[in-house]
Amino acid sequence: MRILIVGSGAREHALAWKCAQSPLAERVYVAPGNGGTPEVARNVAVSADDSQKLVKLARKEKIGLVVIGPESAVAVGVGDEFRHAGFPVFGPNREPGRIETSKAFAKDLMRAAGIPTADYEIFTEAAPAREWARAHEGHVAVKADGLALGKGVLVCSSLAEADAAIDAMLVQKTFGRAGTTLVLEERLVGPELTVFGVTDGERVVPLPPVRDFKRAREGDQGPNTGGMGAYSPPAGITPAMVEEIADMVLRPAVEELARRGLEYRGVLYAGLMLTAHGPRAIEFNARFGDPEAQVLLPRMASDLVPLLLASALGDLPERPHLEWDPRPAVGVVVASGGYPGTYETGFPIEGLGGVPPGVLMFHAGTRPGPSGLQTSGGRVVTSVGMGADIEQARMAALSGAVRVRFAGAYYRTDIGQEAVRVG
Ligand code: AMP
Ligand code: GLY
Repeated sequence: MRILIVGSGAREHALAWKCAQSPLAERVYVAPGNGGTPEVARNVAVSADDSQKLVKLARKEKIGLVVIGPESAVAVGVGDEFRHAGFPVFGPNREPGRIETSKAFAKDLMRAAGIPTADYEIFTEAAPAREWARAHEGHVAVKADGLALGKGVLVCSSLAEADAAIDAMLVQKTFGRAGTTLVLEERLVGPELTVFGVTDGERVVPLPPVRDFKRAREGDQGPNTGGMGAYSPPAGITPAMVEEIADMVLRPAVEELARRGLEYRGVLYAGLMLTAHGPRAIEFNARFGDPEAQVLLPRMASDLVPLLLASALGDLPERPHLEWDPRPAVGVVVASGGYPGTYETGFPIEGLGGVPPGVLMFHAGTRPGPSGLQTSGGRVVTSVGMGADIEQARMAALSGAVRVRFAGAYYRTDIGQEAVRVG
């Protein structure tokens, strides 16, 4: 079978790498891919959100399975276009994808489905929003309703901070249209956890848990990013807890979507906070996480393609045969200086040739330049290591990250370290 992966990040590189190992995969294409994906697949120069060109490509190449990577493609209806043309698609249509693209939609769905989440209110005016923040003594999360690349959330510890955040979004419009509606939430405390559920719109199969690190700097300091690293599995998260989260969060969400006539096929990402009162859903995403996918997929010992295909075709078994490598994986993102703010690209990258054995290097912001690969984005590569324990996996990931050199490169050395402390 020919498989088309839509997207260009390290998540898509990991998906292509895993799909290419399947005996079912005759050929894997990535549109548009990056400087690393040609190692495992064929790059096609079609943008991830150009639905019509993508469908044309799929017809020409007789694609048997389409896998949608990024939220931007979900949001423009790439899934709808492919389904309309009769292709099996892993990844939801645009309307059920609103579970990610509109935080107001997601919170409303959580409430309707009885999913445990932070108390919240939706605002379009600054004065009542400030009022609500005051009632919560400024301990609130202020969220832009629309997509803001993981940066549209300001977690506040005082009324002054909350007022400034509300002002920035509603009055100064720092997030443009994405911030014309705000969700204010009570601030929760506890470790975070990501649990993915692969679904065909009816059945939901949870995957092993992952923890990602969103802040730019060591020790969880600095601004929120799309994710600077991840590891799997986080210490102390038992399979029973994952099943409980599937029952309390993932399954009710898919059922509530179905009740609204919105069939969801693909992977549903639940971002959770483990509070003293139990797990609380923070957000949903309509896709695999990045960098979560880069640590999850290398741990998968069984074939990924039958799982994706069953989800796409709507015949997912209740308990599909999945095998997981017991060894933990740690992923460290090497980013461009300045990310998640402004940064320059076009710097030559050294060291990609000498990746230590056992380390996987998934590319994101890389592209061919006049003398080898050069940088082309904020997150440049994810270096993934596996090991007998988290510490060994972390050391392996860092041994890859340290070799990747370009002007302004930076990465976090503490990804997975909290697990060493806790466990
Ligand atoms: P979101 O885009 O909604 O996942 O939010 C991004 C990040 O902000 C989360 O991963 C949390 O670290 C933090 N966050 C979001 N909502 C809350 C909340 N209610 N309380 C505390 N932190 C939050
Ligand atoms: N790592 C967070 C995300 O993919 O949204």
